[in-house]
Amino acid sequence: MNIILLGPPGAGKGTQAHRLVEARGMVQLSTGDMLRAARSSGTEMGKRVADIMDRGELVTDEIVIGLIEEQLDGDAGAHGIIFDGFPRTLAQADALGELLSAKGKTLDAVVEMRVDDTALVKRVIGRFTCGNCGEVYHDETKPTAKDDICDKCGNSEFKRRADDNEESMRTRLMTYYRETSPLIGYYYAHKRLRSIDGLGEIEAVASRVEGALAE
Ligand code: AP5
Repeated sequence: MNIILLGPPGAGKGTQAHRLVEARGMVQLSTGDMLRAARSSGTEMGKRVADIMDRGELVTDEIVIGLIEEQLDGDAGAHGIIFDGFPRTLAQADALGELLSAKGKTLDAVVEMRVDDTALVKRVIGRFTCGNCGEVYHDETKPTAKDDICDKCGNSEFKRRADDNEESMRTRLMTYYRETSPLIGYYYAHKRLRSIDGLGEIEAVASRVEGALAE
């Protein structure tokens, strides 16, 4: 099953994608993670996108479509793919449809995660991730069980994202409503849209995601 997790910054796409990877053996393709990896390895492309990402604006369609195309060229996951943070524009959605059909794959569901703006801002401001395995935490809603030790891999180094601040978040939200929210209507028209409430305990949201995938 190939799916898109669609939602504004902080909606919980990465958190739920990690759970689906563990529960179902799916492959997560996050364009945000790919772009951050390009930045930290200091590639030319990584240098070009750094400022854009920190401001909370979108990287060009050409770059992100290229990144996804590279991933689909390899063994793209027998148990399905989760597109996390992609597509974000109508042009990206059209390109994804074409890429999947060229590979003989289908898009089975688009799960829209709805969370109000106040909760989104709180979520991103409190977010931190394990520097080793990438597990996502939150200062209040998902702290590590033991102080400064990752529950998953035992590492003790954590990262905070440069764009997780109120100013960038305002731009990221505006960009979402302007560029990405039209995809809700697009996938409704394509009969792929399943919308869920993204508020509440992470476990409760996970059950709603599973319910949406079973529809
Ligand atoms: P990207 O990395 O994709 O960021 P995003 O879409 O802004 O989404 P986030 O990663 O911020 O949020 P999330 O929904 O994954 O939430 P999470 O699970 O972490 O993109 C970053 C940048 O890269 C973009 O701004 C752009 O510049 C560029 N980019 C990426 N893709 C692009 C594309 N396709 N086109 C162009 N540019 C692109 O959760 C957030 C926090 O909330 C965590 O702390 C978590 O623990 C907590 N949390 C999660 N669920 C719950 C819950 N149910 N209750 C309470 N807390 C929760």
